[in-house]
Order: sequence, then structure tokens, then C-alpha cells
Amino acid sequence: MRICMWVLALLFVFGFAWEVGADQNVPTERISGSAGDVLEDDPTGRLKVYVYELPNKYNKKILQKDPRCLNHMFAAEIFMHRFLLSSPVRTFNPEEADWFYTPIYTTCDLTPTGLPLPFKSPRMMRSAIQLISTNWPYWNRTEGADHFFVVPHDFGACFHYQEEKAIERGILPLLQRATLVQTFGQRNHVCLKEGSITIPPYAPPQKMQAHLIPQETPRSIFVYFRGLFYDINNDPEGGYYARGARAAVWENFKNNPLFDISTDHPTTYYEDMQRSIFCLCPLGWAPWSPRLVEAVVFGCIPVIIADDIVLPFADAIPWEEIGVFLAEEDVPNLDTILTSIPPEVILRKQRLLANPSMKWAMMFPQPAQPGDAFHQILNGLARKLPHAQSVYLKGGQKILNWTEGPVGDLKPW
Ligand SMILES: *[C@@H]1O[C@H](CO)[C@@H](O)[C@H](O)[C@H]1NC(C)=O
Ligand SMILES: *[C@@H]1O[C@H](CO)[C@@H](O)[C@H](O)[C@H]1NC(C)=O
Repeated sequence: MRICMWVLALLFVFGFAWEVGADQNVPTERISGSAGDVLEDDPTGRLKVYVYELPNKYNKKILQKDPRCLNHMFAAEIFMHRFLLSSPVRTFNPEEADWFYTPIYTTCDLTPTGLPLPFKSPRMMRSAIQLISTNWPYWNRTEGADHFFVVPHDFGACFHYQEEKAIERGILPLLQRATLVQTFGQRNHVCLKEGSITIPPYAPPQKMQAHLIPQETPRSIFVYFRGLFYDINNDPEGGYYARGARAAVWENFKNNPLFDISTDHPTTYYEDMQRSIFCLCPLGWAPWSPRLVEAVVFGCIPVIIADDIVLPFADAIPWEEIGVFLAEEDVPNLDTILTSIPPEVILRKQRLLANPSMKWAMMFPQPAQPGDAFHQILNGLARKLPHAQSVYLKGGQKILNWTEGPVGDLKPW
């Protein structure tokens, strides 16, 4: 057993444990047609990205102060920067760039317990934009319409961890023309603007890989979930948390033998997901959680309970085919809904999940791999090209208002 895991770990280092591990017992299947094919696109040659050179205080220094940011679920902002620096799509000639990227770590400001607080992010972002718009001519040309920013915090560029406050603030005015690359995805929400690219949260690839168990291990758990049902710490009322969806899971199924659900976080969490058929992915404070990535990586069918969620790379990953979607109000019927899914449908979803391209698309590995989340982001940016002529402003035209927004945000950073 030990040796077996070691072999898998070793294979992973060379890049394709999942493909090698996808043996005769777990056949894989790929979807023909747009979704499956787009996932395997190679962005090289399809776009050129110019990386602004910023003082270290916008990125490296911030990380030095708190290396925990490297393992946080919002670490994509750091790894995307590293990835782009050595990516073949990078150009050193801004005149030929399709996209401009500003490497800024707005989410790397953690409390002692590791919660990111985005209070400084708006001032930091304004400061960076001020800098690039004064030192280079490209921002003013479009006021950011050919620029992209990685803003992975809970509510993206609304920069607040509480939803009502985030909605009240709205997207930072200076980013209104830019393309936002963010984890937050919910339809008809002020913090998700059209044209944004929704990405998965960061889950440490090495850590997941270290817990791989043999693929032929039977999936003996029907429904699995570990996490909070109520958020008593943040809400003394007993927690109207996750719009009540998580509480409903607990209240309806805590004694149901098909449901292995609890708040305990066992050391075998990742192994347990590989022994499960369905993994619940209910909303929490945000519509998504790292469970979504973990479920796909571990081949456990994600049961997505988050009304109006916009899933990562939804134009490339066939979520409807690999997952199960449940309206929040249908949680009380979860058992009947899941037990009535025909076995052949379950098997097909498992075969699709066993396809390594699904797993890579959800991860930010180091070094990068073809088809991983970095490449999906680039593919998303490439699909938005060419820019419409209308993004280029006529001489001196200004659309953004630099003094809009809460007064506190206007102070220097
Ligand atoms: C861009 O426009 C601002 C005014 O909105 C100006 O202060 C700045 O100098 C301009 N940048 C360049 C490089 O000309
Ligand atoms: C910019 O926003 C500020 C604050 O909301 C407002 O007072 C000002 O009139 C706006 N300027 C323009 C040109 O719309």
C-alpha cells in the first residue's frame, strides 16, 4: 500500500499520475463537442500578455511578510503571477500585447487565524492603477479594457467579506472596464460583471496528491460532507448561514445511514472523498468552496447546492454532465433525488470525472501543466480576442471617474 502510494506520487511528479492511474477499472470518457475540446486548447500563439513591472511592495514584499498566503484558497493571485513570468504567452514588447497584467496581491492580508481581510485592497489597487497609468500609455488608451486583474477574494473586486457590504460597495470603480479573473461567480450579482472569468479556488496540488489512494478502491460511502452546518461563531442567532441550505442538510439527514456528514474534519478527509460516490458542495459564505475542486480531483460527483452559481470555466468544463445540481429549496429531497439517479448515469459521470483534463483544469500546479487552470485562464482571455474597436478611447476621452467610491478608498496606500 505504501509503495503503491509512493509510485503514484512519483508519477504525479512527472505529470500524469491521474492518466496513468486511470486504469481498466475506472475507464475515462471525454465529451466530444465544444466543452471537452476547448479544455485541451493550447493558448500559446493565441494571445500575448504584457506583465507590468511593479515595485515589490505590491506583490513579493507582501508575500514575504506572510508566507501563509501561498497555501491559502486565494493563492491563485500569486501563482498566476509566477506562471506568467515564464509563460510563452508573455511578451516584453507592450506594443504587441493583447492583454496587460498587473501583478498585485490584494488578498494576501491575513488575520492571525488566516482569514483574508480585503480592507486595504481598494487603496492598493488604486495606487497600482495610478502607477501604471502614469508610467505607461496603455491604461489611458482603453482605461483598462485590455487589462486583466486576478481578484480571487470572496466577492471579487467588491472587496468586502460580508455580502451586504460587498453589494453596497460594488466593483471598484476603476476596474469597471477591466476583465476580472475571480473565484466569485453568481448570476445577477453586482460583484460579477459580464465578461469576467470565473476560476476555481486554490487547493494545494501536492497535498491532494499525497493522499491519493488506488483508483480501484470501492466507493462505499454514498454521500459525504465535512464542514459547518451553522456558523455560530459569526452569527449568535444560531446561524442563518449559507441561506439555510447547510442547516437543512443536517436537520434532514443527520441520522440517515446513506449520509456520512459531520463537522469533524478527519485526517482521512481526502481519502474519504475518494471512497465516496457523491460529495456535497453547498454554498457557504460564498457560493463555492474548495470542496468543488477536491470533489473533481478525487472523482467524487459534486452535488452543487448554490442557486445561481457560476462555476469555474463554465464555458469549458461540462458541469451539467459531471455534477448534480440541486436547488437550495430541494435539500429536504436530497436523498430521493440522489437515490433515483440511474447507475448508468452515475457511472458516466464517474468516467468523465476520471478524465485527467477535468482535474488539471481545476488546479494550479507547479510547474504548470498543459490544460491546467493557468491555461484555462489564458484560453478564456484568448477567446475574448480580438478586442472590439470601441474599447480604444478617442484622444483624451475619459469614462472612469477617479474620485468615485467611498472616501476611505481614495486615501493614498
Ligand atoms: C493618463 O491620464 C491621466 C489623467 O487622467 C494623466 O494624469 C496621465 O499622465 C496619463 N498618462 C500618460 C502616460 O499620459
Ligand atoms: C465623480 O464622482 C464624484 C463622487 O461620486 C462626483 O462628485 C463627481 O461629480 C463625479 N465626476 C464626474 C465627472 O461625473
